[in-house]
Amino acid sequence: MQQSTQNFDKIILHYFSGTGNAKFVTEWIEQVAREKGLTTLIINIGNNEKVNIETITKNSIIGYCYPTHGFNAPPIVLKYLWHYCKSKYSNKFFVVNTRAGMKMNKIFTPGINGLALLLPTLMLWIKGYKLIGYRSIDLPSNWISLHPGLKEKVVNSIFVRCKKITNKFALKILGGRKSTPGAWWLPIDLAFLPISAGYYFYARFILSKTFIATSNCNNCGLCIEKCPVKAIELVSGKPYWNHSCESCMKCMNNCPTRAIETPHGFTSIIWWFSFAILPILITKMITNLTNYKGFKFEIVYNGLFIFLSILVIFGSYDFLHRLMKIKAINNIIKYTSLTSYGFWRRYKAPNNRQ
Ligand SMILES: Cc1cc2nc3c(=O)[nH]c(=O)nc-3n(C[C@H](O)[C@H](O)[C@H](O)COP(=O)(O)O)c2cc1C
Ligand code: SF4
Ligand code: SF4
Repeated sequence: MQQSTQNFDKIILHYFSGTGNAKFVTEWIEQVAREKGLTTLIINIGNNEKVNIETITKNSIIGYCYPTHGFNAPPIVLKYLWHYCKSKYSNKFFVVNTRAGMKMNKIFTPGINGLALLLPTLMLWIKGYKLIGYRSIDLPSNWISLHPGLKEKVVNSIFVRCKKITNKFALKILGGRKSTPGAWWLPIDLAFLPISAGYYFYARFILSKTFIATSNCNNCGLCIEKCPVKAIELVSGKPYWNHSCESCMKCMNNCPTRAIETPHGFTSIIWWFSFAILPILITKMITNLTNYKGFKFEIVYNGLFIFLSILVIFGSYDFLHRLMKIKAINNIIKYTSLTSYGFWRRYKAPNNRQ
């Protein structure tokens, strides 16, 4: 058996979490560290808490836990890492991403990383840290714009399984041994690179326009106050989602009056126009205007497509936000949102204290 090569005396755990999964993983690791007698420090990236270089002592190990968003680490985590201090002592680090775990007929199914582990690892490595742990934890999927939250029984069984996996991982790395099971996913992760890039540079902005507050909203202000990136503003007296939203799902899952919906009916029409009709219109427009050889059709097409689709999606969202004041519109939007029906459960990690 490989022997322990390092005695850590301190662990600095950085986490970001929308609905509590990554926070749980952080707390499980912290618990193991405490039992091993380490000093622990938890940094919530969502609260913009910073670490001073002097805090990272010679025998400190640092860790990052965060969800996977669009086959990558959330932009807030990447930005944080970008500005993170360089290592003075080549400290060891680990990264853990929580993914969209599911359970089907007693079989636990995994999510997909894309760049979620690789990119933060490279960023820390460039800053002089040395990898000791690299793994994913398949906690329940929280993407409830796409599917209803999982049933409580399923959520609980996924949690029991993941806690054991996390504890085993924590014991190993805190004992100074390397644990990198996430590396087995590398070929699949790299295959998702184009989608990760597409999500990061384009899709995440349009996803911010898939939240709307219905007349159930009592203006309690909780979503505005708790959003980690301050992406919700009050516009005409109602919450309005701006482009900096990370789609972390915190607001939608925590609204006390269940007022936040994904307007599936409205979004389907707008996306159908943007992704099916708009490309045809743009192609016609370009070919009519430019009939000479050597014209960079694809560059102009892609540029126009990105610009116009964002214009349509953002513009229609603004329009809808204003229209929501009309009771009939509000009701149409509400009843054409799958999220408004009772069977479409919200997701929160059990006993979430976020
Ligand atoms: C917008 C969005 C994108 C997501 N993309 C992925 C993904 O690419 N791969 C994956 O495995 N899970 C994905 N998920 C699921 C979450 O990463 C997963 O449920 C995570 O455990 C949530 O952690 P949290 O509760 O700490 O926020 C996504 C969730 C959301 C809301
Ligand atoms: S948390 Fe819900 S009720 Fe409170 S302001 Fe936000 S949308 Fe309205
Ligand atoms: S607006 Fe909601 S989903 Fe978007 S980042 Fe803020 S809390 Fe998360």
